[in-house]
Amino acid sequence: MYVSYMREKTMKILGIETSCDETAAAIVEDGRGALSNVIASQVDLHKPYGGIVPEIASREHLLKIIPVIKEAVNNAGIGLKDIDGIAVTYGPGLAGSLLVGVNVAKSLAMSLELPLYGVNHLKGHIYAAWVMGDPPEAKAAFPFVCLVASGGHTELLLMRNYRDFTLLGQTRDDAAGEALDKAARILGLGYPGGPAIQKAADGVCSKEQMPRAWLRGSLDFSFSGVKTAVLNKARNLGLLEGKNRTEAQEKTARELAAAFQESIVDVLVNKTIAAVKKTGAHGVIMGGGVTANLLLRERMIIAADGLPIIVPSPSLSVDNGAMIAAAAYFENIPVGPDGLNLDIVPSLSIA
Ligand code: KG4
Ligand code: ZN
Repeated sequence: MYVSYMREKTMKILGIETSCDETAAAIVEDGRGALSNVIASQVDLHKPYGGIVPEIASREHLLKIIPVIKEAVNNAGIGLKDIDGIAVTYGPGLAGSLLVGVNVAKSLAMSLELPLYGVNHLKGHIYAAWVMGDPPEAKAAFPFVCLVASGGHTELLLMRNYRDFTLLGQTRDDAAGEALDKAARILGLGYPGGPAIQKAADGVCSKEQMPRAWLRGSLDFSFSGVKTAVLNKARNLGLLEGKNRTEAQEKTARELAAAFQESIVDVLVNKTIAAVKKTGAHGVIMGGGVTANLLLRERMIIAADGLPIIVPSPSLSVDNGAMIAAAAYFENIPVGPDGLNLDIVPSLSIA
């Protein structure tokens, strides 16, 4: 059975997300079922720089946040008066970006006299699994192993129940997404790196081998070694930056991308399954931008050998407002709202 708070009417939460480079807002009813989910991506603005420029990100959030919220409310077919609570990411993330969302959320909560809920972005990635379709506990009983893999984080957690998380392992250096973004830049494949590497590797049968850091049975991760390996190979082959390449060099770049993707996916899958074996969990929940990766999804399902793998659609794996509204419903509502003194915590940890 899944949680159902006894209420006379459903609870519609506006979820606001501005922690990184997506300005996002959504209306979610009772933590499940997004009535709307609007995302304004800044990818094209940051592309020329090969990565996120924090100053550009926060300025763009300022321009987009009100239109995005209006669109989310309109698309849901409701008015502001129908909203029952305001949820917003208060960390982790870029300080200037977080400030935009948190201040808009506070203003709305104050003017509409609604409860305000500060949400941990990483928990949002986990609760994205509740937003559409059957909830995870309809597929397997608690506990779940959760793999959160994004641009800034790679974490394994044991979720024993709602609001009950234990950290099992985390990256000791680069996050998986960060490594993918850096490798794509090294190989001249573009930004953001995860989708660029997935595309470049598609259909490529690579004989290249990239290292894997197993860390002697630990559930921690390390991706800096494989990043250095791709840098050294690309340098030796004259592939850096991707300028004026021959057709053969393009092919080699795609082979290196495929081998790199294999290495990252192999480590993520093996450590997640090791966490399941260690904890006796009944299923796996995957969240965060990297879990949009098709090879990762495919390999995880194969390695799980029948154990339920719960992963939201790719549009809910990347940053969005619906996951923030869902997390508020399950995590924040039972303990009550935050005050209007809610502040950003850029280095907020997950557990
Ligand atoms: O969760 P997310 O949207 O934002 C953060 O919280 O960081 O994750 C962004 C990360 C980026 O590193 C991006 O390259 C990666 O997710 N990503 C992918 C894919 N789509 C996005 N990585 C691998 N395969 C993908 N299809
Ligand atoms: Zn994220």
